[in-house]
Amino acid sequence: MRTIEIFDTTLRDGEQSPGVNISTNEKVEIALQLEKLGVTRIEAGFAAASPGDQKSVAEVAKRVKNSTIVSLARAVKDDMDKAYEALRNAENASLHVFLATSPIHREFKLNMSKEQVLQRAVEAVTYAKKYFKEVQFSAEDAARTEIDFLKQVVEAVIKAGATTVNIPDTVGYMTPIEYGNIFRELKKVPGADLIRLSCHCHDDLGMAVANSLAAIEGGATQVEGTINGIGERAGNAALEEVALALETRKDYYQATTKLNLKEIARTSQLVSRLTGMIVPGNKAVVGANAFAHESGIHQDGVLKNVTTYEIIRPESVGFKSNKLVLGKHSGRHAFKEKLVELGVTLEQEEVNAAFAAFKILCDKKKEITDDDILALVDTKMERG
Ligand code: KIV
Ligand code: ZN
Repeated sequence: MRTIEIFDTTLRDGEQSPGVNISTNEKVEIALQLEKLGVTRIEAGFAAASPGDQKSVAEVAKRVKNSTIVSLARAVKDDMDKAYEALRNAENASLHVFLATSPIHREFKLNMSKEQVLQRAVEAVTYAKKYFKEVQFSAEDAARTEIDFLKQVVEAVIKAGATTVNIPDTVGYMTPIEYGNIFRELKKVPGADLIRLSCHCHDDLGMAVANSLAAIEGGATQVEGTINGIGERAGNAALEEVALALETRKDYYQATTKLNLKEIARTSQLVSRLTGMIVPGNKAVVGANAFAHESGIHQDGVLKNVTTYEIIRPESVGFKSNKLVLGKHSGRHAFKEKLVELGVTLEQEEVNAAFAAFKILCDKKKEITDDDILALVDTKMERG
């Protein structure tokens, strides 16, 4: 069984979600929770982006002891100097330096040749190694980079001392098989077995989690992502989904994480509250409906044995329990359970009458509350 390291970038790529701005105190609060969750690396920000970001990285670095604190930097000395300053007090620090490698970025953004990109990447990693033992190099837009050139870059930065090489799918363009194959190719690069090979997926086509899992199958040893999948544009790979996919399908992936899964619900709720980004009800693992059953057939199954319709136990990710939601698809079994839960004891005939009244109410109202049930039972009883 392989252990996959988790690199959380909620405080950096996640904060790049349009409309999100997390204060220093809030970043510290989230970072301390991520530490409890057990993530290996926390990217606390991009120190050179603003004085506020530099302060946040420094504060997080001071407070968190058990996760490595990372700052992002462009492949320029000033950025790396600012990151070094911010990370001075970290127990464990890492610099994350990035440079785009794809033809689109080389031509339109950087105006640099392949040779210049290669040289700048090596210079940046060499410079970073003066300050940091742990240096991560990201080939921005790696997924759209010519594979031979990408291999050349990866080999060169490993030689320059990079301890992690990250292969971002910056624009969420990949399909799982394609992305997994990039990792299979990169595994052949000399020295690749001695470093961490990391995946970083964006969700533009809704495949960030699937692509991350495909990268793991292809040989990635670190996964990058955010809590609740927040991030630039359509967001990043949702770490709670990656972790639960590995946990639930250990048999298939033969890989797991060291996360304290029970902290997932709390972490998700905290990130949602402090970023103002609401978690959709149908969101996998952490959505309000992720462990709710409405249909009578499903409710009956779950009441007989939860594994009929649940592949994850809600308690295992920190929720109190599953929910049987009463609505027009619900059946008698769940209705009777609800009566027991509410402390209502009825004769069989009364149950039948109350259930019939409940079904009529369901056609008028989307959500049936406990008070609705109690009112309905009272009315029935009063009428005899
Ligand atoms: O998506 C991306 O390419 C990034 C890099 C800075 C790693 O976030
Ligand atoms: Zn990104």
